[in-house]
Amino acid sequence: MRPPEPLPNEPVLPVTRFLPPAPSEMRHFEPEPAHEAVRPRSSPGQTEFGSLRLSGASAPEYRSPQSHHGPPRPDVGPEPLVTGRQPVPAPEASPDAVLIRRTMAEVAHIADKVTSYFYALLFVRHPELRPLFPAAMDAQRDRLLKALLTAAEHIDNTEVLVAYLQNLGRGHRKYGTRPEHYPAVGECLIGSLGRYASAVWDAETEAAWVRTYTTISQVMIDAAAADELRAPAWWFAEVVSHDLRTPDVAVVTLRPDQPYPFLAGQYTSLETPWWPRIWRHYSFASAPRSDGLLTLHVKAVPAGWVSNALVHRARPGDVIRLGPPSGSMTVDHTTDSGLLCLGGGTGIAPIKALVEDVAEHGERRPVEVFYGARTDHDLYDIDTMLRLQRSHPWLSVRPVVDRRAHLQLPDAVREYGPWNEYDAYLSGPPGMIRSAVDALRDIGIPSDRIRHDSVEELVTTGD
Ligand SMILES: Cc1cc2nc3c(=O)[nH]c(=O)nc-3n(C[C@H](O)[C@H](O)[C@H](O)COP(=O)(O)OP(=O)(O)OC[C@H]3O[C@@H](n4cnc5c(N)ncnc54)[C@H](O)[C@@H]3O)c2cc1C
Ligand code: HEM
Repeated sequence: MRPPEPLPNEPVLPVTRFLPPAPSEMRHFEPEPAHEAVRPRSSPGQTEFGSLRLSGASAPEYRSPQSHHGPPRPDVGPEPLVTGRQPVPAPEASPDAVLIRRTMAEVAHIADKVTSYFYALLFVRHPELRPLFPAAMDAQRDRLLKALLTAAEHIDNTEVLVAYLQNLGRGHRKYGTRPEHYPAVGECLIGSLGRYASAVWDAETEAAWVRTYTTISQVMIDAAAADELRAPAWWFAEVVSHDLRTPDVAVVTLRPDQPYPFLAGQYTSLETPWWPRIWRHYSFASAPRSDGLLTLHVKAVPAGWVSNALVHRARPGDVIRLGPPSGSMTVDHTTDSGLLCLGGGTGIAPIKALVEDVAEHGERRPVEVFYGARTDHDLYDIDTMLRLQRSHPWLSVRPVVDRRAHLQLPDAVREYGPWNEYDAYLSGPPGMIRSAVDALRDIGIPSDRIRHDSVEELVTTGD
């Protein structure tokens, strides 16, 4: 918990002024000279930006509001930008990308200073934006800036980038972010970079950042505008049951105030009434149910704000807020390959949802679940998994307890197989995911057949 550093008492660099981009169709940009405002112009189907072309961008698909035309179709969130499946770098970086990367290299070792200064600038120049952010700006507050810098760095990697930014733009609706807020953030980002990368900063570099930031924000703004037509910015959900399975793991069942479309394997973001504007991710522990209820498995981590509130404080009748579903660890029903699932700790929750999903589709593809935990006691959902195994001949569930077998999940997987006809699904602490990815690659499973949520984000949850 640390407040943003006070604004340094020195003159602030002049920064580029942005015109607020309007929510609209995808736009066409032309290269702009430095220090000139960026004026998006309309052109459907593609966002083009000087030498940068967001080829994955397509005109937003405007869907009818949910309530009017049948059940809404859930989105499969994009693969997060930093995952086990790294995008292939573009063969030759565009001129803007070269300048962006040069800035990044310059500030890499002082990223925390850039972040603090960025927020200080933002809140001093635009105090009206402060209430959108949590009261305490803790260590995770660098996610906005990290994402921006990572997106800028991957600006040539357009397909992955556009999907990531569209998801991010939709997810920002729950914060109350409006199109007119984007220029403020852009000014402060560029003000902060200009200050800390002064050794390489010049008009050309600034122009590259203006173009890049405008492209990034336009994709987010357009995705949010399209989403406004079909989904709420957030859902209220009432806790309808709370089952403490171990002293620190609770199974929490929620009733959303309106239909919440999602796919098995996805996760939600959640805000409790006790920690306003602090959002954390939790995976759905069931495939979508006919009664519309949602179930989460939550483990209270030491000194964790949201997880302790959910495990030790939440009771039936409490109302929380949910953001939109996200994540691409979903079952591909167009193939009949087997599923090799590794769930560690509460990572078993989305794995259970995947098993239910396969069962509901009536497919008889093999599903092999390895359920890892530190002790027998931590296998809090083994009974449910064994019950599922008894009902489905295509399912096998193998508990792997570290302390008993001195064996970790990935080692156990190596002992079985062969896995060449399987897609792998991994869920659990980041350390487990990393070692599982290594182990699976070692035994010949190609990276594009290994699915898991963003390790980068999971890192904040510790091992
Ligand atoms: C895609 C995704 C899906 C997730 N799904 C689930 C889920 O289904 N169930 C679930 O319980 N969690 C899940 N998480 C983790 C969850 O989002 C929170 O990070 C977690 O509940 C901790 O939040 P907090 O506010 O309680 O802790 P914070 O207040 O964020 O953390 C407090 C302190 O505890 C440390 N800490 C965090 N996690 C641990 C840990 N495991 N052990 C020791 N120290 C730790 C932090 O580094 C920090 O110093 C998921 C995360 C992601 C990214
Ligand atoms: C290109 C522009 C932007 C990028 C890339 C970006 C990225 C991010 C990311 C990655 C997060 C972390 C949580 C999440 O995944 O949702 C975040 C959080 C947040 N962003 Fe943005 N953001 C941008 C613009 C904005 C703007 C214009 C606002 C409005 C002021 C805003 C407000 C917030 C708030 C309030 C949070 C949550 C608070 C927090 O956890 O720090 N963002 N942003």
